[in-house]
Amino acid sequence: MMHSTIDRTIGNTPLVRLQRIPGADVAARGTVILGKLEGNNPGGSVKDRPVLSMIRGAEARGEIHPGDRLIEATSGNTGIAMAMIAAMTGYRMTLIMPDNLSAERRASMRAYGAELILTPAVQGGMEYARDLAMTMQANGEGRVLDQFANPDNPRAHYDTTGPEIWRDTQGGITHFVSAMGTTGTIMGVSRFLREQEAGVMIVGAQPSEGSQIAGIRKWSPAYQPKIYQPSEVDRIEQVSQADAEEMARRLAAEEGIFCGPSAAGACVIALRVAAEVENATIVFIVCDRGDRYLSTGLFPG
Ligand SMILES: Cc1ncc(COP(=O)(O)O)c(C=O)c1O
Repeated sequence: MMHSTIDRTIGNTPLVRLQRIPGADVAARGTVILGKLEGNNPGGSVKDRPVLSMIRGAEARGEIHPGDRLIEATSGNTGIAMAMIAAMTGYRMTLIMPDNLSAERRASMRAYGAELILTPAVQGGMEYARDLAMTMQANGEGRVLDQFANPDNPRAHYDTTGPEIWRDTQGGITHFVSAMGTTGTIMGVSRFLREQEAGVMIVGAQPSEGSQIAGIRKWSPAYQPKIYQPSEVDRIEQVSQADAEEMARRLAAEEGIFCGPSAAGACVIALRVAAEVENATIVFIVCDRGDRYLSTGLFPG
């Protein structure tokens, strides 16, 4: 008998219809809103896909070998995926992250055996962490896969997430909504879906000015991810932290979908789009699970 391995459980996540939050008006206009549950990946987030793709890609090109040290600046989910996949494949892992991120994330990374470097959030958050990762690589301390610039990041979504959405909507998707961090998800899915049907509208969600939503950013021009191509996105919508957090609580309590605030932010935007259209099939990415945010006070205690 052939047994599977943990890496093979990444992807093929469920696509589920929201049953209550969209309300009767949206249903009467023939529109459905579907969430793709990336929290069902073994590492608990959408990031399992690009991390597996980046490690496999670098291995295939002979750039890394088991036993090497990998270094990555990460706001959380990528770090957990990196730590998990490094553990699976025999790499040592150093993760650099601002010290204001949730305790569950840090504990999960350490559980998988990763070493953590916590940088002072006041010193510049993710930008500072990204600069430090590059300095360590330049000093020969390990290899940075750099999810912000690595084409294997969007490629994972072009090869898997996009085709799964197309398959599971029977080619019926009309709008795709994704929160944007590295932009790997939206770049890869956009490319695949537009090749199938040029009219699919691609909508990106960004935090509004002053809002802190874990995993997503409105990057300053100097730090804009190299993989980002503005032409792959039709429309960018802003979501406030308060609206995203409120929607995270509603998704759990009214739909049984327990997710983090970036996923909920994408849901807010999906509802905004739904209010404008008819007979649409709107898919949004549910990036991760809500239990990752319990210590932040996002959900009622
Ligand atoms: C919680 C969360 N939401 C959304 C995203 C955005 O995904 P992407 O990096 O593919 O744009 C990330 C990425 O790190 C994330 O951790």
